[in-house]
Amino acid sequence: MTMKKGKIAVLAGDGIGPEVMREAIKVLRAAESRYGLRLDLTEAPVGWAGIDAEGHALPEKTLALCRQADAILFGSVGLPQRDASLPKEQRPERASLLRLRREFGLYANLRPVKLYPALAHICPLRPERQGEGIDILVIRELTAGLYFGNPKMTEEIVEILQERGKPLRFQRAVDSMVTTTPEIERIAHVAFQAAKTRRRKVTSIDKANVLENGVLWRDVVSQVGRGYPDIALEHMFVDNGAMQMILRPAQFDVLLCENTFGDILSDEAAALAGSLGLLPSASLGQGKGPTVFGLYEPAGGTAPDIAGRNLANPIAQILSAALMLRHSFGQEEAAAGIERAVVSVLENGVRTRDLLGPGERGGRAAGTNEMGDAIAAALAAL
Ligand code: IPM
Ligand code: MG
Repeated sequence: MTMKKGKIAVLAGDGIGPEVMREAIKVLRAAESRYGLRLDLTEAPVGWAGIDAEGHALPEKTLALCRQADAILFGSVGLPQRDASLPKEQRPERASLLRLRREFGLYANLRPVKLYPALAHICPLRPERQGEGIDILVIRELTAGLYFGNPKMTEEIVEILQERGKPLRFQRAVDSMVTTTPEIERIAHVAFQAAKTRRRKVTSIDKANVLENGVLWRDVVSQVGRGYPDIALEHMFVDNGAMQMILRPAQFDVLLCENTFGDILSDEAAALAGSLGLLPSASLGQGKGPTVFGLYEPAGGTAPDIAGRNLANPIAQILSAALMLRHSFGQEEAAAGIERAVVSVLENGVRTRDLLGPGERGGRAAGTNEMGDAIAAALAAL
């Protein structure tokens, strides 16, 4: 398939970021030759790698590279042991990841969660609870809600006059949840459109019984839903949603959530797949054509405890690269090819350490690089 050269900013970041990124690049190169793609991959530092190289978690040069790119392939940032030494605003998660989401208007976060039949034994749920299978697309609003409310104050010092006339000083933190109609509308459209290509069901999550944000959310999602008569819409309070997720996850197809609820429920859903090392994500901006600018990253973190030891599972990073080919470059065939290659490697029993089931603990696990090699080879052989 012909395409104009795709420009990709590769920001591997910290911890296991660089080693899983290496495998994603390996698989992208294999996809290039298999599908005739033309990819221009340029690496730049972010997170602690940025601070160490340029004194900032998102160096100017890195941001400039992102601005010229069609997509950002992101690893992970933050090292808890070092983060504490910095003022909150300069810490990698806020100064780079949240900044990029905001800077590029990446409002639509897609987190596909699948329990692969080959890995059903590492799902924390008993087989009867797994039902007909777990295949959930969490769609999380990513640039509004509680994460980006205004006011957002921390450590405000408040003095209150006590009954006995003695002032008491204490701290107070304020984070506000602010969501507007257009913000809800556009993310709702993303959810309904996605449902069209899946099992045609949207479950919208809110807390409309308590929060005004939830009332508005439910209202606007229902209105948008009227434009999609062939998609079933269901509303669920977030606490119930969290419970349903572990009682009967097979009921969910597309799960539409506000920023914070989506953060929490996507981790819960991720746990059902057996390992965080499997889950990719796409954060998309507003696009005019069929392809959009996006940032693609694994759902897991930097895992400093296993970093640099060839133990990390690169699948989440590799599947994130597949999402990138699909959403930012319109290369459906190559994206689906990478996804099929991952499935076949899992079916052939290749396992990084995190994928070994209780009965397999003594077995030999594949290293990060071996998993990448296996997927690249499977792709070439498709
Ligand atoms: C995620 C992460 C981020 C978030 C952190 C790292 C800021 O948990 O992408 O889910 O809370 O959005
Ligand atoms: Mg999270």
